[in-house]
Amino acid sequence: MIEARGLTKVFRRADKPPGLAASVRHLVRPRYAEHTAVAGIDLSIGAGEAVAYVGPNGAGKSTTVKMLTGIVHPTAGEIRVCGLDPHRNRHANARNIGVLFGQRTQLWWDLPVRDSLALLRDIYRIPERRYRARLDELEPVLGLAGLLPVLARKLSLGQRMRADLAAALLHDPRVVYLDEPTIGLDVTARDAMRGFLRDLRRTGTTLMITTHDLGDIEEVCDRIVILDAGRIIYDGPVTAIKDRLARDRAVHFTLADACPGVDLSTDLPGSRTVAGEDERRVSVVFDRFVHGAGDVLAAMARHARVVDLSIDEPSIDDVVRRVYAGAIGDALPDRVR
Ligand SMILES: Nc1ncnc2c1ncn2[C@@H]1O[C@H](COP(=O)(O)OP(=O)(O)OP(=O)(O)O)[C@@H](O)[C@H]1O
Ligand SMILES: [Mg+2]
Repeated sequence: MIEARGLTKVFRRADKPPGLAASVRHLVRPRYAEHTAVAGIDLSIGAGEAVAYVGPNGAGKSTTVKMLTGIVHPTAGEIRVCGLDPHRNRHANARNIGVLFGQRTQLWWDLPVRDSLALLRDIYRIPERRYRARLDELEPVLGLAGLLPVLARKLSLGQRMRADLAAALLHDPRVVYLDEPTIGLDVTARDAMRGFLRDLRRTGTTLMITTHDLGDIEEVCDRIVILDAGRIIYDGPVTAIKDRLARDRAVHFTLADACPGVDLSTDLPGSRTVAGEDERRVSVVFDRFVHGAGDVLAAMARHARVVDLSIDEPSIDDVVRRVYAGAIGDALPDRVR
């Protein structure tokens, strides 16, 4: 469905000497600094796959997505999305793809949602009957009815995301790119979004999702591609990378009384007990495949009276950080380039 070979984007940035008066700036020939945002990636995504595309800020994720959607022309390399070159066949390509930018809206800010959707219907030349049917399909899952008369700028973030998703899916695209689809959403809205994306997957739609949230990845995707400085450093199953690199879980306790020197490493072999900011706070870091949070609580209760606790799951950023920190060679021998 998506095929990229040797995909490369080099940006040229004009570096003019600083401190020049605006009136003469245009007379000075700039020196160009070249910056390789995407450095020759190969990617092949099959129909119906849901792929997480992750990496630190500036890794080249958005640039890749912009090339795949046809907005940005690659410096080198080949792309085919549903058999089309997305840049050369921008109009035909637009019918096959949907795009959601969590940080930005594609709705017309000063129009009611209904009018934005109607404009997109005209842009995509969706027949009126098909359009009505599509809105009816999306209604139960996105709860659009209440949103249609509201101006886009008056929507809450969660409502805006639902309306934007409707806009991205109106023409029933075969490939959907989602850039941070759950950013800023509360727990309920986030779960609803993930549920929706899972359902979307079941319809055979191909998904490519950029996110920093491990929950999105685990619940929606089965494959993860990690990008660093424009290169793919991992491409493989989500489970494999999590099982190897995201085993640690932490329970943070608040105790009724100061408990200096408490150590659960005998109760829970392999765990680490870390003193907190004050003597009533202590954290236990353990392998989630060896111990359960319940075991940790029971062990702590044998040493101290527990007032409160919270549990930290590893984040995808932790996984990515560990991949960079050299876990690549030994932990991921099979899939890393
Ligand atoms: N239009 C542009 N002109 C010059 N440089 C650019 C342009 N767009 C992106 N870059 C540079 O390319 C690199 C990759 O940017 P990109 O936006 O693809 O990163 P990203 O992985 O999406 O990061 P983030 O997680 O912050 O969204 C960055 O160093 C960025 O400064
Ligand atoms: Mg980006």
